[in-house]
Amino acid sequence: AQYQASARAHTNIALIKYWGKKDQQLILPMNGSLSLTLDKFYTDTSVSYDKNLTQDEFYLNGAQKEDPKVMHFMDIVRQNTGFDSHAVIKSTNHVPTAAGLASSASAYAALALAATAAANKKFDRQKLSRIARRGSGSATRSIFGGFAEWLEGTDDQSSYAQPLEYENDWDIRMIAIVIDDQPKKVSSRQGMQTVVATSPFYSEWIKSAKTDLKNIKTALASQDFKHFGEIAESNALKMHALNLSAQPHFNYFAPASIIAMNIIEEIRELGYPCYYTMDAGPNVKVICKNADLSVILRQLQNHFPADHLLVAAPGPGAQLLD
Ligand code: DP6
Repeated sequence: AQYQASARAHTNIALIKYWGKKDQQLILPMNGSLSLTLDKFYTDTSVSYDKNLTQDEFYLNGAQKEDPKVMHFMDIVRQNTGFDSHAVIKSTNHVPTAAGLASSASAYAALALAATAAANKKFDRQKLSRIARRGSGSATRSIFGGFAEWLEGTDDQSSYAQPLEYENDWDIRMIAIVIDDQPKKVSSRQGMQTVVATSPFYSEWIKSAKTDLKNIKTALASQDFKHFGEIAESNALKMHALNLSAQPHFNYFAPASIIAMNIIEEIRELGYPCYYTMDAGPNVKVICKNADLSVILRQLQNHFPADHLLVAAPGPGAQLLD
């Protein structure tokens, strides 16, 4: 046996957000979430076990890194595979230069698949999704392509993602407006923890996010793009409102993020359905139908350099590479 494997996983953007844990160690979320996996942005990772190693070696884009989260994740993989060796791990992030969209979602989804396959374990996607979850919550969803729902669950067994197969009907596109590629000021992990501990609105968020999740699935099933986009946009803004209400308060808005949101609302008023979402950074992501893409892009190009507008389509689930 070779004890070596490589895998690719694509990043995903949440339309109903995960923003808080009910179990820090198992990474169980406070509410279910829903995302779109994208074709443009992905991570390739190879894992090669070597029984002579005394610890894991991790390389990111060619440079060796000390990353305790990766080491901890490899221990979880070893618990699941029963295969005890340490490994050399090489990851490459494929995101357009300066996009600032590199994500732990694609990273841990690719590592979950490569590290289990290298141990000669062929786990089903539900199990891979549960393992990926232990690296980073959002990675749970990147095991699947297209739209995926992360079921919040109540324990390790019941918290995993599953695909929602609607993407072909819609021809949805996402335009990432690259505003800044600097590292985030407050990590997702820290930000959501502060919010859960201090926001007076947190219990209302949980209720509201659960309603949003239910309603966005109805909108997906009935192909109601307007309703779908409105729910996604509102859900993102509620997440950012939590950050403003935390102690200490924080936010991910750059001045240009606000400008971008206003421009998207103006384009919408011209009659082109498009809606925005934002994560733990200043970049704004716009969802629209492929049929409206070129008009919307042209409008955005009046305000942003063309090379700061990155278009992505639905992407595939995690896959092994040969
Ligand atoms: C705003 O998955 O990065 O992108 O589980 O602590 O690693 P950890 O957090 P992470 O959080 C993602 C937050 C988000 C929303 C989302 O992807 O659902």
